Amino acid sequence: MIKIPVPALETPALLVDMEAIEHNIATMADFLADKQCKLRPHFKTVKVPDLSLMQLAAGAKGITCAKLSEAEVLAEAGVPNVLIANQVIWPSKIERLAKLAGKTRMCVAVDSEANARDLSQACVNAGTTLYCLVEYDCGAHRCGVRSIEDGVALAKLIEALPNLVFEGIQAYEAHIVLKPEEEVRREGAKESNAAVAEFRDALLAAGLCVNEISGGGTGTYKYTGGGDVYTELQAGSYLYMDGRYGKLGLPFKNAQFVLGTIMSKHPGIAFADVGLKSFGMDNGNPILVGHEDLFIKLNEEHCRIDDPEDIFKVGDQVLFISGHCCTTVNIFDFAYAVRDGKVEKIMEVKGRGKSV
Ligand SMILES: Cc1ncc(COP(=O)(O)O)c(C=O)c1O
Repeated sequence: MIKIPVPALETPALLVDMEAIEHNIATMADFLADKQCKLRPHFKTVKVPDLSLMQLAAGAKGITCAKLSEAEVLAEAGVPNVLIANQVIWPSKIERLAKLAGKTRMCVAVDSEANARDLSQACVNAGTTLYCLVEYDCGAHRCGVRSIEDGVALAKLIEALPNLVFEGIQAYEAHIVLKPEEEVRREGAKESNAAVAEFRDALLAAGLCVNEISGGGTGTYKYTGGGDVYTELQAGSYLYMDGRYGKLGLPFKNAQFVLGTIMSKHPGIAFADVGLKSFGMDNGNPILVGHEDLFIKLNEEHCRIDDPEDIFKVGDQVLFISGHCCTTVNIFDFAYAVRDGKVEKIMEVKGRGKSV
């Protein structure tokens, strides 16, 4: 368990427990070592290129991201193989993507004919090649083609268009990854993987090559990552973990913490200097580490802690685990890498705010 760093840091501060990071990277690498599916971890969670480079050094085959601006950060950091697991549709962004494909190997998800044509034209203009995954709706009902027929037609078009290469399938089972019961995740992944396999078989029957099938998250790493359909696992949260995933009994440790300081104390109540602006709140309240039973309420800039036994005093530092690691890291400019109660280095959160 992380120790609060000495000398004390100014707060709010984002801490990353390097021992837990190494444990999580090694645990995932060990699990996938003898599997067909390899890791392409999601940068929308990580946001710190220094940590993505550690994932690559441990065997990740490339990095996944959600946004073009994240891909630009990764290319700048020297990541050689980047997937944007979403559609890029705006003309100026398509132009940037086509140029970026000249800097690093770029792959992108596509789910419409018009977008495929625009991507192709931009790559012809830029003189670059772009790899494309057809996104398929495997049950989450988000982006992605809705039928095998439409998916095969789109893959054929991509294959025929200049400067595009049809690379395979993007299919993320968002509707399953956070289900609390393991059996529901296992059975849900089985069903969704079977739907993706059916799409793959139709593509093969149409004479197309399916080099990659990409998807899967932390909650389904064992099933999608351990199965025989996917070639790439896009898990991201396994690296930091958080309050949501902490409840699922996975073999990963909490590696991301927010450090706060008690700024005001009165009988029965304490106030810490971390508020709604210090945590991604989309999955509810953070956990106060070591005092999970104490009621906390967050306001914009501070947190009220019920302290019936008056255990806190002004100046005490306290650790929190957020409800959602991805939206929490996105709030901080830098993260302190901590080991044995000391700051080992300060890492820039270069992907922070990269949502364009
Ligand atoms: C397309 C895609 N792939 C992978 C992931 C990573 O999932 P997790 O955070 O469960 O590891 C997400 C998360 O939302 C996602 O949207």
